Amino acid sequence: MEKTMRKGLLQSIDLYEYILETSVYPREPAPLKQLRIATANHPWFVMSTAPDAGQLMGMLLKLVNAKKTIEIGVYTGYSLLLTALSIPDDGKIIAMDINRETYEIGLPIIRKAGVEHKINFIESQALPVLDKLLQNKENEGSFDFAFVDADKDNYWNYHERLLKLVKVGGLIIFDNTLWGGTVTQPEEAVSEHRRVSRGFIIEFNKTISTDHRVEISLTPLGDGMTICRRIC
Ligand SMILES: C[S@@+](CC[C@H](N)C(=O)[O-])C[C@H]1O[C@@H](n2cnc3c(N)ncnc32)[C@H](O)[C@@H]1O
Repeated sequence: MEKTMRKGLLQSIDLYEYILETSVYPREPAPLKQLRIATANHPWFVMSTAPDAGQLMGMLLKLVNAKKTIEIGVYTGYSLLLTALSIPDDGKIIAMDINRETYEIGLPIIRKAGVEHKINFIESQALPVLDKLLQNKENEGSFDFAFVDADKDNYWNYHERLLKLVKVGGLIIFDNTLWGGTVTQPEEAVSEHRRVSRGFIIEFNKTISTDHRVEISLTPLGDGMTICRRIC
């Protein structure tokens, strides 16, 4: 069984494997598969976006005709390459990560796939980059899509900024919103390294459920993925 199997929250490993084998892997674009395999032996491979969640994300990008997007948390670039493959040739992605080294693992594959020209990678904490974008009024409401997959402590800060940058009708997706299933476990049963972010995720899930500026769906794909559609 491949290592990605461990990512899913589905209680049945067989069922998860079935989904991957029947409907995800056979349709996964070759460069994405290469990137997934190139990441599989990296010590932090579990951080990579789950392929089944990625498949839905690719469809959503196309459904909203996304052309201008933001990506927070690149790692080796699975979701970034997926986005680059899903938007048109003149589409643009502003991608940010504090670590360029891991981005460089996927970069040769991104280059070979012929989509590097769509990516503006910024090695930085995400918040200051978003704040800088917001200093230019022209950026307000100009993005079609944003994917957030970095520090959970800042999810709400990202949300507030992205709500200004993403247009009405656009999508903001937050990954890991079920945090390995720990959101329903008693705190003492959760390993220490997961506890702090678990608190932020629980708070985020509670707050976003009452945010009437967005429609939401918390899908149990991958590690839980909250899809928000800006409505005002
Ligand atoms: C879960 S991984 C992203 C996985 C990626 N979406 C993929 O599909 O492979 C989280 C990434 O966020 C980055 N990160 C952590 N804190 C950050 C911050 N404050 N600003 C920007 N990136 C950050 C980490 O360096 C890491 O590469």
